[in-house]
Amino acid sequence: MRVLVTGGGGYIGSVAIERLVARGYDVVALDNFSRGHAAAVHPEADKLHCDLRDSTSTAQAVAQSGAEAILHFAALHLVLESVGKPGDYYQTNVSGGINLLNAARDAGISRFVFSSTAAVYGEPQSLPVRESSPKEPINPYGHSKWIVEQLLPVYAETHGLNYAAFRYFNVAGATEERGEDHDPETHIIPVALQVLLGQRDSFTVFGTDYPTPDGTAIRDYVHVADLADAHITAIERLDSPLGAINLGTRDGFSVRQIVESINRVTGQELPIAFGDRRQGDPPALIADTTRARELVDWNPTRSTMDEMIGSAWDWMQRHPNGYES
Ligand SMILES: NC(=O)c1ccc[n+]([C@@H]2O[C@H](COP(=O)([O-])OP(=O)(O)OC[C@H]3O[C@@H](n4cnc5c(N)ncnc54)[C@H](O)[C@@H]3O)[C@@H](O)[C@H]2O)c1
Repeated sequence: MRVLVTGGGGYIGSVAIERLVARGYDVVALDNFSRGHAAAVHPEADKLHCDLRDSTSTAQAVAQSGAEAILHFAALHLVLESVGKPGDYYQTNVSGGINLLNAARDAGISRFVFSSTAAVYGEPQSLPVRESSPKEPINPYGHSKWIVEQLLPVYAETHGLNYAAFRYFNVAGATEERGEDHDPETHIIPVALQVLLGQRDSFTVFGTDYPTPDGTAIRDYVHVADLADAHITAIERLDSPLGAINLGTRDGFSVRQIVESINRVTGQELPIAFGDRRQGDPPALIADTTRARELVDWNPTRSTMDEMIGSAWDWMQRHPNGYES
């Protein structure tokens, strides 16, 4: 099967391409490379330089791709940036998403996997978070993803789109060849490891008075390769819509537990500073993963904290300047 991967130059998209190629799929990467890296795209994948905000180019690229399935990772995803520039987020994530859906419809591509996020839930009132929990996003990023999610059943009903919307919790880790190279980097594990590489002065723990066992915020982390594999299983099963599916592990880790794991795995001591809670950061976010287990045989085997940190650390030591090194 030939698979079109949007955002194929990005962190998760490039790992998904690597896993698809390893399993014998024929892959075409689509990206405008505004945030991703051409060097991250597996050499066996074809590359299409295309901006999803341009409906004409998107329609042409998708029609030419010869794809039978689409994994749609391309997006802007920085929460703080989305608060300052909401229009950019709706344009890329919503208009770009609609352009892609229309192009898929016109090209007769019915298998479609959408990268959504736990940010669609906002600050959940009860844990673990189920797919049916209220969707109350608190920033334009989460809102833009929720808008696209709501369009998917409409395209399913009207145009026969068979979709899955994976709501990722936190994604971490690296493969041998591909890792996280965002600019700016905002994710906790690479940010902390950049301190150990001498690229940042210190690591701040935001909030130590949360109602959690050690007072720091708890999140649910998934290894990027486990996450990518769920997408491949989904493509195979999209003979009918699968709907929204949480991807987490149901094992939450606190910020202090992450720091302990970093110290253990790297053999160094991460210098830490303490700061106030950040607005909009709930005490804990844990996924109910029942639907993922049932619908895509979800069994994340690499998602232990030490393995996620160890693989990220290996990659970052070999690529201290990301894909430029
Ligand atoms: N990384 C996480 O922890 C996380 C968590 C939840 C959800 N997600 C979602 O997963 C997806 C991938 O995340 P990532 O961390 O790999 O992001 P990333 O920034 O590394 O990759 C996104 C890619 O999309 C491309 N892109 C952006 N705008 C584009 C446009 N207009 N046209 C074409 N390409 C465009 C970028 O150049 C980049 O290569 C996103 O949709 C994100 O919202 C990520």
